[in-house]
Amino acid sequence: MNWIECRAKINLYLRVLGRRPDGYHELGTLFQEIDLADSLRWEPAPPPLALTVAGAELGEPHENLVWRAAEAFAEKTGIAAGGRFHLVKRIPAAAGLGGGSADAAATLRLLNDAHGQMLGQEELLALGCRLGADVPFFLEGGRRLGRGRGDRLETYAGRVPWDGGFLFIPPLSLATAAVFRAFSAGRASTEDDSRETRLGANDLLQAALALSPSFAEIWHKLAPLFEGEPFFMTGSGAALVWLTKSTRLTASQAERAQGLKVKTLPFRFSGAEGCVRTGSSLRK
Ligand code: C5P
Repeated sequence: MNWIECRAKINLYLRVLGRRPDGYHELGTLFQEIDLADSLRWEPAPPPLALTVAGAELGEPHENLVWRAAEAFAEKTGIAAGGRFHLVKRIPAAAGLGGGSADAAATLRLLNDAHGQMLGQEELLALGCRLGADVPFFLEGGRRLGRGRGDRLETYAGRVPWDGGFLFIPPLSLATAAVFRAFSAGRASTEDDSRETRLGANDLLQAALALSPSFAEIWHKLAPLFEGEPFFMTGSGAALVWLTKSTRLTASQAERAQGLKVKTLPFRFSGAEGCVRTGSSLRK
């Protein structure tokens, strides 16, 4: 069995449009797949399931999204969950890059391929949605507008005049649910949907800054060094994104990041817009 890539995402913008009766928040967000990726491999074997992880702590296996996706696939198809999964983690956890969701989507695609495409794309999307609000995006990939919980995907007609840049990964993580809770505290349940949205806008930034003084320090020390090109938080943080045509950081950017123990990583957009992922590959 071959390794497949589980690519990360950034949110080129993220608007929170209100709270929903189901406890989630209504979003308007622009997802962009990038080339930073975990790798996943599956070897068929009789049940029970097995999972090994390199590059990060495995934690509780049953809580890993690969495991949960394999169980969800088994429940939906009636095929007992089995085989051996090997996951190599490169996407930092709780960074707003969708690492766990990317792994879940890759697991569903991989198992669906291995079992003769038993489920259609719509069934996979519905299954993905139960695992996490941004799993459906990872089943489609490329660049997509996300509405609803982020799971209602639409084509984006606007232009994005960048195709990559640098990620800044602070040495801390922010829990998505906590950031959304901080956002909601004291807010009305509906927001104005007509605000102009520029690339890099993120309604969760102020909540993340309020939640974590260490993150706030990093943001306030880095942000002034990026004039003229978008520098922003992705998802619920804590990873930061600089969209740029530059191929290197300036000396002051590199020094400041190093001083704050912030890891820097070049990235490129990946996946073509308008493509739908079927199986483990992209098809126009
Ligand atoms: O769906 P997922 O597990 O990725 O979401 C993690 C948490 O983030 C949810 O439990 C919820 O608290 C919050 N969330 C939200 N609104 C969204 C997406 C996530 O409130 N649209």
